[in-house]
Amino acid sequence: MTEEFVRKRIAEYDSGHDWWHIERVRRLAKYINDAERLADPFTLDVAALLHDVVDSKFIKDYPENGYTVVEIFMETAGMEYIKDQVVGIIRNVSFSNKNPEGNLKDPVLLIIQDADRLDAIGAIGIARAFNYGGFRNSPIFYPDNEQQVPSTISHFYDKLLKLRDMMNTDTGRFLAVQRHEFIEIFLKQFYKEWNGEF
Ligand code: ADP
Ligand code: NI
Repeated sequence: MTEEFVRKRIAEYDSGHDWWHIERVRRLAKYINDAERLADPFTLDVAALLHDVVDSKFIKDYPENGYTVVEIFMETAGMEYIKDQVVGIIRNVSFSNKNPEGNLKDPVLLIIQDADRLDAIGAIGIARAFNYGGFRNSPIFYPDNEQQVPSTISHFYDKLLKLRDMMNTDTGRFLAVQRHEFIEIFLKQFYKEWNGEF
């Protein structure tokens, strides 16, 4: 039932935020929690499923309406008892959320954040970044001053390379190391090819 609700809500998003992203975040969150046993598994799974249903990048008008829809859904689905917790998590999970409020130490939030960030790095993270860049028609790279002109490569420096050091859990940190290294290897090869060093 929650699956169906989520599929409908995210149908308009780019394919880096598709159902498979949700599935990967679910699996990563479960993996982290199986290792660390910090959160209630059911609440964690529901929060993973719902974490992207109100995304300001895709819902331009009235995000508050999006939260209300989630609240009504949870009441109807018999999840009233975890509604406030889950909606609080959805509000705070985003990397780009500049106004966090509420219980920022909720272990469910900490794990979902790690899972979501892990899916933004490594091979999948690279694929998602270029997919999102394509969706927005951003340049792949601006060689002269890549830090100033926004491009998908500049997004690596603005966000992706920072995520490893932002992990909340030990397991998240452990998983992030290898994914981070993979991005560094990718960038090295990218510049090599770009600069014509064959
Ligand atoms: P959050 O919702 O946690 O703020 P985002 O939705 O911004 O995270 O990121 C989701 C995915 O989209 C990530 O894989 C991220 O790398 C990618 N993405 C976001 N902004 C950009 C951008 N400007 N260029 C390329 N990829 C981006
Ligand atoms: Ni997400």
